[in-house]
Amino acid sequence: MNSFAFILHPLDPKADVARKYPNLARLLPVRAIHFLSLYWPPLVLSHVRGIRSAATGREVEGWLLACPLTARRMLEVPPRVAYRKIIQTGRLAERLGAGILGLGAYTSVVGDGGLTVARALRIPVTTGDSYTAALSVHPLLEAAAQVGIDPGRAVAAVVGATGAIGGACARLLAPQVGRLILVGRRADALEAMRAQLTGEANGPVEVATDIAVLRSADLVLSATSAGRPIIFPEHLKPGAVVCDVARPRDVSMSVHREREDVLVVDGGLAQTPGGAGLGFDYGLPPGLTFGCMAETITLALEGRLEDYTVGKELDVERVREIQEMAVRHGFRPAPLHCLDRPLPPERIRTVAAHRQ
Ligand SMILES: NC(=O)c1ccc[n+]([C@@H]2O[C@H](COP(=O)([O-])OP(=O)(O)OC[C@H]3O[C@@H](n4cnc5c(N)ncnc54)[C@H](OP(=O)(O)O)[C@@H]3O)[C@@H](O)[C@H]2O)c1
Repeated sequence: MNSFAFILHPLDPKADVARKYPNLARLLPVRAIHFLSLYWPPLVLSHVRGIRSAATGREVEGWLLACPLTARRMLEVPPRVAYRKIIQTGRLAERLGAGILGLGAYTSVVGDGGLTVARALRIPVTTGDSYTAALSVHPLLEAAAQVGIDPGRAVAAVVGATGAIGGACARLLAPQVGRLILVGRRADALEAMRAQLTGEANGPVEVATDIAVLRSADLVLSATSAGRPIIFPEHLKPGAVVCDVARPRDVSMSVHREREDVLVVDGGLAQTPGGAGLGFDYGLPPGLTFGCMAETITLALEGRLEDYTVGKELDVERVREIQEMAVRHGFRPAPLHCLDRPLPPERIRTVAAHRQ
């Protein structure tokens, strides 16, 4: 039987530590959790059984593992310290007998996006970013259709366009939208990307380093590793659709509270084959998983035990391939969600009404 392991780590220190150690999370101040996370050893969160391919009927088993470093600490410490902790967790996966290792959240963001980790381990590694990219463009376009936005006539902006997921999403969106704005912090990297995309795009491609440019976008896809909100109510156009892929999220809670005319949906969510659970509450409704986990499990179901998505430059052909494989084995893009809950239909009606 093929098998996988997948690494999670605390993004919201209190809430995520409480999922495994409720008493400890009550006792420890957030500062202590950040500090101790560097010294806590990797651990097994669940032994996953019963995920069966819709295509072959074959089952895989797996393990969800915790790399205790919090997201903030992961960004604060030098990359080699973060690598050491991730590799230590990878060694646990090797000892358990996993055939492939998936890197969740910031364990794939830090440093070179899995290249160093993959070189250090005997088992293959994937960041899961290819399927996450597919699962991010999908809800953006699905939500656009539901509120009556024609992508071919729309202005779309990708925030974090110089990143792994943002870059792939920009390439997927370029042939489909009326105008594309690449938003990021590094003007030179954005210009290089614009040059690459111009031949593939349906319309003009522009670049911006000021997030205020979002005010002109009908569609926004945000996938940064800022680790804190960067999109606020004043940045968004009335009637806009925003897909937030980032964890921690890029869209401020104030947008949810103050902008009923804007539709925010979650990116990067999939339904598992047959609604199978993974034996640990990682904060999503039952039967849902993150794109990065879904990619790892798909590769185990397919028997493609190889370094699949590593590094920061994604291959769009791989994005298409993993999407096909995932669907064949029974994964589906999740129905539209917002803040990890199903999107109430009245939200779509409200935003559609604001667009008229
Ligand atoms: N839902 C899911 O299943 C799923 C799966 C994997 C990842 N994710 C999330 O997706 C996000 C992106 O992941 P990735 O692998 O694509 O990361 P990445 O390759 O490191 O790219 C991150 C991007 O964010 C930009 N950025 C970083 N800090 C910023 C700030 N303070 N303000 C504005 N931009 C900033 C970076 O810009 P520079 O180029 O200037 O540094 C880069 O463009 C992360 O939040 C991650 O947790 C979600």
